[in-house]
Amino acid sequence: MPHYVKVKLKYIVLSALSVVTISLSPAASRASTSYYNAFGRKQGLNTVVGDFLNNVLADSRIKAYFTNANIPALHAALVTQFCMLEGGPCEFNENMKTVHQNLGVTDAAFNALAEDLQKSMVYHNIPLAAQNNLLAKLAPMEKGIVTK
Ligand code: HEM
Repeated sequence: MPHYVKVKLKYIVLSALSVVTISLSPAASRASTSYYNAFGRKQGLNTVVGDFLNNVLADSRIKAYFTNANIPALHAALVTQFCMLEGGPCEFNENMKTVHQNLGVTDAAFNALAEDLQKSMVYHNIPLAAQNNLLAKLAPMEKGIVTK
């Protein structure tokens, strides 16, 4: 093989290796991003949240809360919120206390909603660590959301 071909090959192999190293290292070193990936990123979250909202709207314990809700807006907000909580590239700044202050949410309603979310995550085979991480991030919001 002529020398210039060898040099070129060596260059190609080295640059391919560095691309692999560069693209793997951030994901490997940021555990939080792996939860977002475990959900299947934006598309996976879209599916899980869609299923979650279907559960909620069919749940006789809590569906009345959502009679006047803007479901597409709620869907979009939840995807962004969960994306951020699971370490994805999203910004979410809505104040949960303010959003829910006039809704009269009870403890029982909060638990029913959490159960509906869990059901949708199990249904879509989301890895348990990612499920638990999301539930653990949501649990402390209970004191701001429950007003009754
Ligand atoms: C940790 C638990 C919860 C989270 C993370 C959450 C998240 C959210 C978010 C992000 C919004 C804003 C949607 C938007 O900007 O359009 C919202 C609105 C709302 N939430 Fe929650 N929520 C929780 C618990 C609950 C519970 C337990 C209920 C009642 C059973 C409830 C009922 C509602 C309703 C009725 C709205 C208003 C929707 C609208 O006006 O269009 N939420 N929630």
